[in-house]
Amino acid sequence: MLDVTIARALHILAIVHWIGGVFMVTAVILPAVARLEEPKKRITLFEKVEARFATQAMISVTLAGVTGFYMTHRLDAWDRFLDLGYWWMHAMVLVWAVFTVVLFVAEPLFLHAWFLRKAQSSPDGAIALVQRFHWVLLSVSLVTIGAAVLGAHGILF
Ligand code: HEM
Repeated sequence: MLDVTIARALHILAIVHWIGGVFMVTAVILPAVARLEEPKKRITLFEKVEARFATQAMISVTLAGVTGFYMTHRLDAWDRFLDLGYWWMHAMVLVWAVFTVVLFVAEPLFLHAWFLRKAQSSPDGAIALVQRFHWVLLSVSLVTIGAAVLGAHGILF
């Protein structure tokens, strides 16, 4: 099943770019931005970095989804979704769905405008909220990656 192996490699490359990028934004860029002197600069810098990454992440999130569903189809693994022992499969789809909705629907429709409004009244509060949101998403994603590797290699718990 060479095609599944190739899909698996592409799946992981996409995850490395996507979750690695989220890690960088969460653990490095946001804390640095929050320490900038001028509150207005914090928002502008964050917006620039996040917008650039969000465009790239749209590609890696899509690639992760396509390769993930392709593997599920080729491994005939749909029935795993009926088995709670495969909770890491549900977790992968959940993480993917949350990012897809945020990137493709919520951000362009209302999240961006909401963030700018919030940033005008309280730049610190807006950045702090974004930081919390990133930490939650990153933590869930990391647990999912660990569990998926264990699960895919036969360790189910
Ligand atoms: C639509 C969403 C997704 C689907 C349908 C999907 C599906 C799959 C499938 C079928 C496998 C192979 C399992 C096996 O060999 O038994 C897999 C592996 C894996 N996936 Fe996903 N996935 C999705 C999203 C994600 C996300 C969001 C992450 C990370 C947060 C992720 C991380 C992984 C990892 C680390 C592996 C293990 C690769 C290995 O060690 O062989 N996947 N995925």
